[in-house]
Amino acid sequence: MENSKRFDIQNIRSQFPALHQQVYNKPLVYLDNAATTQKPQIVIDRLKTWYEMENSNIHRGVHYLSQQGTVAFESARKTVSTFLNTKFTHEIIFTKGTTDSINLLASSLGKLLVNEGDAVLVSGMEHHSNFVPWQQLCIERKANFLVVGITGTGEIDIEQYKLLLEKRPKIISIAHISNVLGIINPIEEMIRLAHNYDIPVVIDGAQSVCHQKIDVQQLDCDFFAFSGHKMYAPMGVGVLYGKEKWLNAMPPYQFGGEMVSQVSRQETTFNELPFKFEAGTPNIGAVLGLETAIQFIESVGIEQIAVHEEKLIRYALKKLQEIDRLRFIGNALKQASVISFLIGDIHPYDLGMIIDKLGIAIRTGHHCAQPVMEYFGIHGTMRVSFAMYNTFEEIDTFVAAVKKAALMLE
Ligand code: ALA
Repeated sequence: MENSKRFDIQNIRSQFPALHQQVYNKPLVYLDNAATTQKPQIVIDRLKTWYEMENSNIHRGVHYLSQQGTVAFESARKTVSTFLNTKFTHEIIFTKGTTDSINLLASSLGKLLVNEGDAVLVSGMEHHSNFVPWQQLCIERKANFLVVGITGTGEIDIEQYKLLLEKRPKIISIAHISNVLGIINPIEEMIRLAHNYDIPVVIDGAQSVCHQKIDVQQLDCDFFAFSGHKMYAPMGVGVLYGKEKWLNAMPPYQFGGEMVSQVSRQETTFNELPFKFEAGTPNIGAVLGLETAIQFIESVGIEQIAVHEEKLIRYALKKLQEIDRLRFIGNALKQASVISFLIGDIHPYDLGMIIDKLGIAIRTGHHCAQPVMEYFGIHGTMRVSFAMYNTFEEIDTFVAAVKKAALMLE
């Protein structure tokens, strides 16, 4: 795919069929991209072609389709590896999504590193998928579950983080960008500080990977997890990047076909990386769709996407400020693609329901991050989240709808 440097919003929008529909007789304004993005036709077609013409099981067959499928699947792994700039292609493990990637780590890395009396450190702004698996691991292992607090502006309390490092947690797991606040965490600094104590750091990249360039070698993170469906790819596929040394040391997560080398009644030896962590038949079509989504992102240009989304968020923040009694939840300067807000005492659900009838899709509630709500002493927020295909006109429509709904509900 040719790398076009011109950001042509109409051309981009024309490639997403779902954006061109009406809901309740109104043009759809889709602003729930942190939950999932819409899919470009090219990704939908890739999935369709797989099932129409290529469907087979990989790594197993001598026949034509199986061999072609294996080549395509391994080429997708290479594409993901290049996208993240990993040192080795076998550091890419295909999973079902971010949740699956983090559960894999909590189980496998947890078994390797965490024993009674040890500690694991997360932050108070994590999505439940980067909170509950570590909490449950700590309960099971009788380890300490450490949670670094967040400040009034929604940033990780770095001074407290430094103090908690003194407790020598065995694993640190942190979101790159908060799914509620949109705050970009200073992960470079956090990783560097953790590595002073040789502590491995997991980055939950679910909300960052399609908004900015990720270079895992530059970040020097030990693990990086993300989902395909939040980056224009099909659902049911995700990635876990891990440094080779850790993946080699970690025990398998699930047992079954493909992840084994030799099986006898007495014992089983395990396959090499990356297959050791890919038990069972993977979601092959979705992996190929993920490869196409990456190629699509690269054809638009991740830097151009970031610039466009930055303009959108600044514009939306300015327009929303016009609304009486509106307050932002988390207002740090380093914010990407997500805005959470409340208006007076209006219940987020009520406002969300009204603007839905005007064709506008946002998310309301706790966004699967109840610890964040606890920090702010609230039950939920209204959340808008942007993707490359959103426009300033959509923001105008959205803000006008919010104003109208707020008047009705006050
Ligand atoms: N994690 C997704 C969200 O934040 C579903 O909406």
